[in-house]
Amino acid sequence: MDRIRVMSVFGTRPEAIKMAPLVLELAKRPEFESICCLSGQHREMLQSVMDIFGLKADYNLDIMQKQQTLSSITSRTLLGMDAVIEQAKPDLILVHGDTSTTFAGALSAFYHKVPVGHVEAGLRTYDKYSPYPEEMNRTLTGDIAALHFAPTAANAENLRRERVQGEIFVTGNTVIDAMRYTVQRDYRFSTEALNALDFEHRRVIAVTCHRRENYGAPMRNIFEAIRQLAEMHPEAEFVYPVHLSPVVREAAFGMLADVPQVHLIDPIDVQEMHNLMARCFMVMTDSGGLQEEAPALGKPVLVLRRETERPEAVTAGTVKLAGVEQATIVRLADELLSDPAAYRKMAKAVNPYGDGSACPRIAEAIEWHFGLCKDRPADFC
Ligand code: UD1
Ligand code: UDP
Repeated sequence: MDRIRVMSVFGTRPEAIKMAPLVLELAKRPEFESICCLSGQHREMLQSVMDIFGLKADYNLDIMQKQQTLSSITSRTLLGMDAVIEQAKPDLILVHGDTSTTFAGALSAFYHKVPVGHVEAGLRTYDKYSPYPEEMNRTLTGDIAALHFAPTAANAENLRRERVQGEIFVTGNTVIDAMRYTVQRDYRFSTEALNALDFEHRRVIAVTCHRRENYGAPMRNIFEAIRQLAEMHPEAEFVYPVHLSPVVREAAFGMLADVPQVHLIDPIDVQEMHNLMARCFMVMTDSGGLQEEAPALGKPVLVLRRETERPEAVTAGTVKLAGVEQATIVRLADELLSDPAAYRKMAKAVNPYGDGSACPRIAEAIEWHFGLCKDRPADFC
């Protein structure tokens, strides 16, 4: 029998990190021909992930433009995908998460009547503009998909409530699988600025901030809060690998470059990032991925957003929604820095997002869908 042609389409750093272990899993299984198509929505930040996981792209649409708009990402991906799908003739297209590449990849598959598998399906805030445009990207992708790989039972429940068509599987999040490759006990950083940090005697706080809905006033509030915290806590060091978005870089360097306890560095590769988180005191972020990774490493997280589609770690007590107001962010971070009991309460390793076996579950679900095995994989719970 011919092998099943599964084409994974992704384009940004977080999609690549979370799809990499799945691409590797598919490649291991003889019944699949695994094809990798990059939109190239990100460039340097994407290539860095491909290098760490040893992945090679079969296709790269290379669409990135400086300060690109949502329309340009979507339209350039859609136009580029036509020729790729015609040439590669995939039996299934996999997309991940909620970026503009995700949505455009799914829409293009639909136009070519190729079924879509949605990895990291069912996350919702039910607020169209937060996160923006991700909430709408993932909802529309859910409408198109035939196979929905939901990380948690609550994500699957969202999809059932919305009565999406197709099969829903609870798989765990593939990011926990990715961390099996990256986190090492005796890891040595290759970034000089990270090697220079004294993790034992200083309070090292890992920071990231990049979301579109935080552009402008929210981002200014967040950076003001960091300035204030640095003054209040001379024992703290903030390490912030700044996203390559020109909007973010202008704001971050404009407001924080003169604070000696704040280390603004270029984006680091995912192995450096995961091992930085494993060693830090706590994490302050508006990232989606960091909210899943830090709890698994036992690090408290303050989420610099108004809402989150990842409530599981909030319920487990290791993540707090800090919002985007300076006073609240300062109060919550100050509490963790000043009160050991409050810190201990949050610093416990929990793994609501996965057990490291999401990728084999997804591969088995695809096999089951194509009639290659009798049994549907058991849900992650
Ligand atoms: C995108 C996703 C967001 C995700 C984030 C992960 C959309 C609309 N947004 O947002 O969901 O959380 O990626 O990081 O899909 N740039 C470079 N080199 C790179 C990457 C980016 O120079 O390797 C610069 C470019 O000038 C680019 C800009 O960053 O125009 C913004 O990139 P873009 O993908 O549009 O938005 P993100 O904020 O990265
Ligand atoms: N990350 C990284 N290098 C960095 C910053 C983040 O490898 O300098 C990783 C991080 O560990 C996580 C992913 O990138 O796996 C998150 O990406 P991002 O915050 O850009 O996007 P989001 O998850 O918010 O969509």
